[in-house]
Amino acid sequence: MDANTIRKKFLEFQEKKGHKVIAPAPLVLEGDPTTLFTGSGMQPLLPYLLGEPHKDGVRLADSQPSMRMQDIDDVGDPRHTTVFEMLGNWSLGDYFKEEQIRNFFEFLTEVVGLDPHKIYVTCFIGNEKYGIPKDEEAAKIWQQVFKEAGIEAKVAEIGSAKDGDKRGIKPGERIFFYDDKENWWSRGGACETTPIGDPCGPDSEVFYDFGEDKQDEAKYGLAHPASDGARFMEIGNQVFMQYRRLEDGSFEELAKKNVDFGGGLERIAAAAIGSFDVFKISLMRPIVERLEKISGKSYENNTDEMRVIADHIRGAYLLAAQGLAPSNKAHGYAMRRLLRRAILRALDLGISANFLSEIVPIVAEIYADLPDSILTHREMALDTMLREENAFRKTLNRGIRELHKLSRNNKILDGKDIFMLQDTYGFPLELSVEECYRQGVELSKDYLKEFEIALGKQRERSQTASKGMFKGGLSDHGETTVKYHTATHLLLAALQQLISPDIVQKGSNITADRMRLDFNLDHKMTPEELEKVEKQVNDWISEDHEVVFDEYEKDYARNTLKAHGQFWEKYPDQLKVYTIGDFEKPVSREVCGGPHVEHTGVIGGIKIVKEESVAAGIRRIKAELILK
Ligand code: ALA
Repeated sequence: MDANTIRKKFLEFQEKKGHKVIAPAPLVLEGDPTTLFTGSGMQPLLPYLLGEPHKDGVRLADSQPSMRMQDIDDVGDPRHTTVFEMLGNWSLGDYFKEEQIRNFFEFLTEVVGLDPHKIYVTCFIGNEKYGIPKDEEAAKIWQQVFKEAGIEAKVAEIGSAKDGDKRGIKPGERIFFYDDKENWWSRGGACETTPIGDPCGPDSEVFYDFGEDKQDEAKYGLAHPASDGARFMEIGNQVFMQYRRLEDGSFEELAKKNVDFGGGLERIAAAAIGSFDVFKISLMRPIVERLEKISGKSYENNTDEMRVIADHIRGAYLLAAQGLAPSNKAHGYAMRRLLRRAILRALDLGISANFLSEIVPIVAEIYADLPDSILTHREMALDTMLREENAFRKTLNRGIRELHKLSRNNKILDGKDIFMLQDTYGFPLELSVEECYRQGVELSKDYLKEFEIALGKQRERSQTASKGMFKGGLSDHGETTVKYHTATHLLLAALQQLISPDIVQKGSNITADRMRLDFNLDHKMTPEELEKVEKQVNDWISEDHEVVFDEYEKDYARNTLKAHGQFWEKYPDQLKVYTIGDFEKPVSREVCGGPHVEHTGVIGGIKIVKEESVAAGIRRIKAELILK
């Protein structure tokens, strides 16, 4: 059974068991600053797990695309991915352990067709410090369920995963008790690190046995479910979410006990084809096969690189198809990082020309079954990704050229060299380090420290420079000027949106005391018009919009992004564009060198103090910050 079929069958199965199938949430959760991306199926359901009624009832199910950037460094092994789909079902104070365990076992063995002899499970051993009892109940249910399948399942007390590495499994053992590092679930992990206010509880995890030969005992110790070795892979986690962490650190029982089940679609699909390597499933294999074709190299001999590239392009596609664009901040930066890492690893395979146009359509096809409600920008995704590939290729080629120039004659590179590459050529620290590693260029022992020192010195220099510029002035002049600068963008946008779309900037001048904007208009502005414009600017300020910038090719900035610019003929081919507000429907978008505030809220507010004529058809507005 392939992954798309498993997803479909899971949702049908849960529907038959009385669940309402709900739409998954986007990867970026509005109003949830706790994680960068939706990292599990339960996250969008947090309020309901804490007791708020859900409009679709007390039994819910979905398949939630999830992303855990914190796993990025583990990608390359057979099972880790940054992006994955979590099959989920929830009981909001309805059924509990027995129905959950029976249903999941039925799904795995009867729907997906897994051999029950290959299924091993774990339960929570209890925690004395927090007075949380051992989950004997779950273990008993499991014993009964296995018995009905003709399997005598023995129980083992393991404790920590480390203890398990030494102890291994004794004959007949199938149910294992571990401590809270393994079998307690909260968004922060173990009991001690459970976030205050979050729901949590003991869990029971289900593992698939891929065979003794997969373990690598020399590296990972004896096999047992929670070992890092590849014999066992967790394919599902049933959280008995019955507690909530309080301010004082203790755990309170929830009025209603919930079940939060999450199963890795990719991992269940791997079990279904008996492959301990998730990169062989239908959601991945076509990508890997295309990489083999483009590079002329085999997956068997280049697993690490191909896994990273496949995973990262998949992740970046899901972000792009949800309308995100690469940038230097938060979500956009994660996307940029995924793409850049993929492009770099492709270099290791000898792929030095652009290749995303061959891979992205395959990924899009793989994800054709995901609902439109989350992949709202499918048709834009390829273009977004190709643009980043182009831009990065330029930076890369230049940076690598310079790095090799520096390392000629076996020179050892130090932190100062690496800082120069970043500062002058935009070739980031981590890429320099990776490139040195790939090419066997030696780095000085203290390169990181040296890099920090060079960075610090440069900061000092730029501070001294700005002090010099405002000699004798107030110390906050720099900051005030930056606020005026952003306010000028808002003022121009308000004029264009409220007075005339034909308005363009004809000049501007900013001092630490006021801003001045000149623009074309055929009449003196009325007091009502001025009031309307001023109000709009102040509304945008209090809405606290984000201000972001990025570099784009000129044509793209002008024609696609519709950035406002004064001197298109004179601009260079690559230019910086500042966007204020939502990327799709921005408040303002202008070609500009910056700097700007990061959020409009810090501006406080403005007051228009004068509107006058400076030449035929050219008006001038002077405005001041309202000091708060
Ligand atoms: N929320 C649980 C998990 O992420 C199911 O493992």
